Amino acid sequence: MPSTELLAAARGARERAYAPYSDFHVGAAVETEEGAIIAGCNVENASYGLSICAERVALTRAVAEGHRAFRWIAVAGPEGADTTPCGACRQFMAEFNADMHVTFTTSDGVVETTLTKLLPHAFGDFRANV
Ligand code: THU
Repeated sequence: MPSTELLAAARGARERAYAPYSDFHVGAAVETEEGAIIAGCNVENASYGLSICAERVALTRAVAEGHRAFRWIAVAGPEGADTTPCGACRQFMAEFNADMHVTFTTSDGVVETTLTKLLPHAFGDFRANV
């Protein structure tokens, strides 16, 4: 189970989402192997394609703060919406842990799964590990 703290951090970050174009506010929070929690929100742009999802904001922020080992990510979307991570975010997560635990909010409640299930046979460039 993710700590309630992790989902709470995702929900807290959601409050800071900048999503004037879609009005779909999302927050995400990653938990490191050491137990640190780093959160992010989606940040949109008038040039729509430049918008970045909450998951990638949380991960890039965490990496910039010196973290690389992540065991869990929680994603909180609008009440009643199925907020599953997009394909680009799944690949982005796989860069750091192809079997990361993933929690996201849906119209049916909170779903807990793994990245292996969400992105089987993820591509990995193993030069990153050399
Ligand atoms: N979005 C996220 O931030 N995370 C998700 O898991 C789903 C989608 C954002 C992208 C865009 O700013 C808005 O939600 C609508 O797609």
